[in-house]
Amino acid sequence: MCGRTRLSRTLLWVRCQLILFEKHYHLAKLAKEAVVREARDEDFPSIWKIFRKVVGEGEYTPTIRSDNTPDGHEYSLHEEDDKKKFIAVLCEIEGQVVGYATVEESMWNLSRHAGELGIAVLPQFRGIGVGSALLDSVLGVASDEGFKKVNLSVFHTNKHAINLYKRFGFKKVGRKSKQFYLKGSYIDEILMEKFIGPL
Ligand SMILES: CC(C)(COP(=O)(O)OP(=O)(O)OC[C@H]1O[C@@H](n2cnc3c(N)ncnc32)[C@H](O)[C@@H]1OP(=O)(O)O)[C@@H](O)C(=O)NCCC(=O)NCCS
Repeated sequence: MCGRTRLSRTLLWVRCQLILFEKHYHLAKLAKEAVVREARDEDFPSIWKIFRKVVGEGEYTPTIRSDNTPDGHEYSLHEEDDKKKFIAVLCEIEGQVVGYATVEESMWNLSRHAGELGIAVLPQFRGIGVGSALLDSVLGVASDEGFKKVNLSVFHTNKHAINLYKRFGFKKVGRKSKQFYLKGSYIDEILMEKFIGPL
């Protein structure tokens, strides 16, 4: 599920990487520039803060409670599987980290070509193109890193996210009916995929 991705891997992953990626986007609605770049070690608290914020909204992810996530840094130091590929990019506007996107390698040995997308933008920066910039960047980096396809799952009620994914060529490939129960209503889980490299 998007946004639930294990951010803890970021720390271990970025430690052994140089900065490989940075791209600038013009956000017309804000008349400002956004910088999307790969996350560094010291970005981890900012990313974690956004993750917790979105979880705390209780609208977009099955991880409802924001108070049961352990402290970011301590948790990340105890990551059990550092062999999986994990890509993390973030978006900065005037130096403030306003969103991030991740692609995490599948847990299955036979699905190492496939990654799972996670994405989140701070509420006050949504609807102005940050998610599009993040998606554009993370898919490019994922392709460069050898991923062939990216999967995601999303609540059927999350229309903004679904529209964004469709715009980037994700196809709906499945639906788990009434998979989640949130605030008195059942929610379907929509499964989507996009091929990003030759098989
Ligand atoms: C989904 C999400 C990452 C999209 O990021 P974003 O920065 O809002 O994305 P963009 O601005 O590039 O595009 C969002 C689309 O929704 C529209 N939109 C309008 N108002 C919006 C709003 N208040 N919030 C989000 N999108 C809005 C945008 O105009 C755009 O439409 P388009 O695709 O027809 O151009 C962001 O809304 C978010 O973090 N949501 C909460 C967490 C979440 O749902 N994560 C994904 C779970 S699978």
